[in-house]
Amino acid sequence: MNTELKDIQDREERAIKKAKTVKELAEVELSLFGRKQGLLTTVLKSLKDKPEHERRTFGAQANTLKTRLTQQIEERRAIVGGLEEGSEPFDLSEPLLPIPATGSLHPVTQISEELEECFSAMGFRVLDGPELENDFYNFEALNHPADHPARDMQDTFYIKDAPALLMRTHTSPMQVRALRQYGAPLAAIVPGRCFRNEATDARHEHTFHQLEGFLVDADVSFAHLKGVLEAVAHQLFGEMVRMRLRPKYYPFVEPGVSGEVTCMLCEGKGCRVCKQTGFLEVFGAGLIHPNVLRAADINARRWSGFAFGFGLTRLAMLKYGITDVRLFHSGDSDFLKQF
Ligand code: PHE
Repeated sequence: MNTELKDIQDREERAIKKAKTVKELAEVELSLFGRKQGLLTTVLKSLKDKPEHERRTFGAQANTLKTRLTQQIEERRAIVGGLEEGSEPFDLSEPLLPIPATGSLHPVTQISEELEECFSAMGFRVLDGPELENDFYNFEALNHPADHPARDMQDTFYIKDAPALLMRTHTSPMQVRALRQYGAPLAAIVPGRCFRNEATDARHEHTFHQLEGFLVDADVSFAHLKGVLEAVAHQLFGEMVRMRLRPKYYPFVEPGVSGEVTCMLCEGKGCRVCKQTGFLEVFGAGLIHPNVLRAADINARRWSGFAFGFGLTRLAMLKYGITDVRLFHSGDSDFLKQF
């Protein structure tokens, strides 16, 4: 740097730091940038008298210096200005405002952990799967060929320029992924986020949570499915709760059922939420379709299994009496504080 400029820099930076009041600072500013006699103003004006070859570098350096000093004046002004108003920028001795109570786990996380504990105790391992799936795992391998009408009920979000990728509509793709990776026998659960292209309202959300579970072993029967899920229902909702299974179609299980438990709001008497039936649907389940086992490279003659999918978001709504599903992802701390 040019020595003349360097001198100015050193001297003026000291002056800026020394200024104790806004007024003193204004004086430094004037002495530097004043239109008539400001030091830097004069320096910049003298540019035109410099020889051609010096003009460029000198000009650039002088301008950098100008920006640098201006910035320092601004910073200093914020500090001395604050001091003058009697409000120090940092008062390290000031007592803290009361610290708000520590946060809590999201209601969906709480339900998920409760189920994870329950299934782990029965020997299920807990797995995680990708939210961005491909058509094969989300549909094809789950016995939904390309033209299958059941696809219509699970419209989702596709990725521009990568039509084979989509946001998973359920956690079921992990049946196939996990079996391919670990082989049989296998017992696992997979909690996770799912997505559907829904017109959102109090009961429909484009993002929600499920918990998938499956068990593949020799001679697995429907009785095993029923026994495991009944144990879970009792653990989750208490011994009094009754569970019932009713036939329901899912392409990837055969037979398939809808799993219902006695409505916890009216205790089975019938209310608006359970549409006077006394029961609420909380999971879908069934025996894994041989086509799915084959897609997962599992010998369907040797092994059989059951699978189920809990609606975690729905469970949380029922457990806590939440009436609008959109609250879950609202990020509203008044909502979250309640759990
Ligand atoms: N994946 C199904 C759904 O999202 C639920 C399900 C899982 C049903 C496993 C049967 C077996 O609706």
